[in-house]
Amino acid sequence: MNPLLDFLRKYICLKKLPFLASLSQNFSTIYAHMFSKFFDKSAQKGSISSSKANNAKSLLNVSNLTVHFSTRSGPVKAVTAIDFHINSGEILGIVGESGSGKSVTAQSILKLLPKNGHIISGDITFDNQQILTKTEREMENIRGKQIGMIFQDPMTALNPTLRIGYQIAEGLIKHEKFNKKKAKEKVLELLEQVGITDPQLRIGQYPHELSGGMRQRIMIAIALACKPRLLIADEPTTALDVTIQAQILELLKQIQCERQFSILLITHDLGVVANICDRVLVMYKGKIVEDAPVDQLFCNPQHPYTKTLLTAKSLKLKGLS
Ligand SMILES: Nc1ncnc2c1ncn2[C@@H]1O[C@H](COP(=O)(O)OP(=O)(O)OP(=O)(O)O)[C@@H](O)[C@H]1O
Ligand SMILES: [Mg+2]
Repeated sequence: MNPLLDFLRKYICLKKLPFLASLSQNFSTIYAHMFSKFFDKSAQKGSISSSKANNAKSLLNVSNLTVHFSTRSGPVKAVTAIDFHINSGEILGIVGESGSGKSVTAQSILKLLPKNGHIISGDITFDNQQILTKTEREMENIRGKQIGMIFQDPMTALNPTLRIGYQIAEGLIKHEKFNKKKAKEKVLELLEQVGITDPQLRIGQYPHELSGGMRQRIMIAIALACKPRLLIADEPTTALDVTIQAQILELLKQIQCERQFSILLITHDLGVVANICDRVLVMYKGKIVEDAPVDQLFCNPQHPYTKTLLTAKSLKLKGLS
């Protein structure tokens, strides 16, 4: 992680500087680049992969991961021999076109691949534990407690038949052994933390009674309830309009700042990457074609696909596409 960017982010977060917090995604990217250009010489060097550089202190290590799906028309090669890591406290983005293998990568880490998905080769180590040899029961203790998850569509991730309060309390009762009273207190505290007004009323409501932004906040509360060391967020804001999207990302950033957990953030949006991530992987046809600190990726993209992505983004910003 770039220490200067980390410092700036913590400072802005702790001081809650409203004018900085409200700067547009593009402004913060430009400032980040200016600062990192001055202070981080390593950002200038340019390499396609920085994945092996920090393995010693990494929280998650994925090596040589290959995933195929069996289908009627033959095997689908979803992910091919990918290597990457996430350090403690780091926010790693994954970008790439539709079908490039982003979600399959996340599902593999959680051992939540669909039935026809097979891990052909590879190792996944989380906090010094081998994930791929874990039983389903052992994985249940990792999911939610050690690794939190936020998915694209909260309507499918939340249970429509259960009240919000119960759904947040479930993990606390199961993993943290909270009694009902303590769980309720914690739920109310979490709801306030994620910016839900009138939490007393909300705990008794069902998902369909909340707005899209509120449901996404509930997902964040559930994912963070047991203080996981890693949060995997797969397109957490794409279903939301731009203003709510910015609020949710700001919220995630602020909580990450305070608690210093790691985030694996999957997104299509390079603006989101620029605003929130420390480092980014670019996936293309099941492979990682670039792994670089965010400032380096924007200033000095290496792979032709990354250059195309950045050109598309700048055309969009200029209103030319
Ligand atoms: N259950 C499945 N059966 C067969 N192929 C699948 C299955 N799930 C995913 N795939 C294939 O695996 C590849 C990677 O899919 P993945 O869902 O990881 O893409 P993605 O990068 O997350 O795309 P998007 O940005 O659209 O979410 C795609 O070719 C997809 O068609
Ligand atoms: Mg996906």
